Amino acid sequence: PKVTIVGAGNVGATAAHIIASKNLADVVLIDVAEGLPQGKALDMMHMRSVEQFTVKVTGTNDYADTRDSDVVVITAGIARKPGMTREDLLGVNAGIMKSVIGAAMEASPNAVFICVTNPLDVMTTLAFRESGLPANRLMGMGGVLDSSRLAFAVCEQLGCPPAAVTAWAVGAHGEGMVCWPRFTTVDGTPITELMDEAAVAGVVQRCVKGGAEVVAFLKTGSAYYAPGASIAKMVEAILTDSHEVMSVCAHIDGQYGIEDLYMNVPVRLGKNGVEEVVEFDLNDDELAALRASADSVRAGLANL
Ligand code: NAI
Repeated sequence: PKVTIVGAGNVGATAAHIIASKNLADVVLIDVAEGLPQGKALDMMHMRSVEQFTVKVTGTNDYADTRDSDVVVITAGIARKPGMTREDLLGVNAGIMKSVIGAAMEASPNAVFICVTNPLDVMTTLAFRESGLPANRLMGMGGVLDSSRLAFAVCEQLGCPPAAVTAWAVGAHGEGMVCWPRFTTVDGTPITELMDEAAVAGVVQRCVKGGAEVVAFLKTGSAYYAPGASIAKMVEAILTDSHEVMSVCAHIDGQYGIEDLYMNVPVRLGKNGVEEVVEFDLNDDELAALRASADSVRAGLANL
């Protein structure tokens, strides 16, 4: 299989590295910056005999080289600096997303597309509107990362290994994010039974603020290792047709009482992309929180 990653910056190159290391697919890195994707791709190929993967990583500035990709990941755009929210990136990144989606689709009309560029929900919606792609073949990466940050906070709080934890963070990929503690479990037991309310609120806060915490340390940009791994996880589920359920920024069409909106929800992934939006059995408070998160996404869309 072939995966194209648009944007050979921190997130795109890290995703390429992980996809190659797992031997999932040949990877084409494409960027407007001349030499950057070529140099990073060559560097990764120099790693091949050490890591013993057999797939190829190539770099280009020409969409012709991305032809007939199975999956296209879009990471092109500027990232946050300290004090910025994801929403502050809208103006610049909307222009980039518009130019990228058309060119990428022309080269790979049958691909599954994963948007990563922030503000995620708005950029994924923009790509949907611009491309006319069927909703199952266009999604965004946000929820896998947010859920992984929640899982980390739970591990830190309870001192448990990552394999024991299943975590769910959904809703807007931003401050309007929603965590589902009742469905977040350690060896099958909900964290609401393992921690008091204050501790649950604490791990939720660590999840919601996780991205900003990284930005505050780095100062020059935003996170990329965990985002790269989260992209690779989604790509793997699609390429292997795994039917795995994970939190994905997908088109919601009536599920949870939410109409026509891109936002993170549990989704089953397979070779055609989104197979279904999975509806968890939410209580009234959880449903209200998810709908409020949807409202925050709609408010962001008004700025498009
Ligand atoms: P970066 O600045 O390291 O890389 C961005 C790359 O995009 C640069 O190499 C730039 O040359 C390239 N680019 C700009 N315009 C382009 C175009 N028209 N065509 C092709 N390439 C183009 O930024 P980084 O850290 O890789 O972040 C990329 C984006 O991903 C940002 O918008 C960031 O906010 C977002 N992000 C989203 C996450 C999520 O969970 N959805 C997580 C982390 C970052």
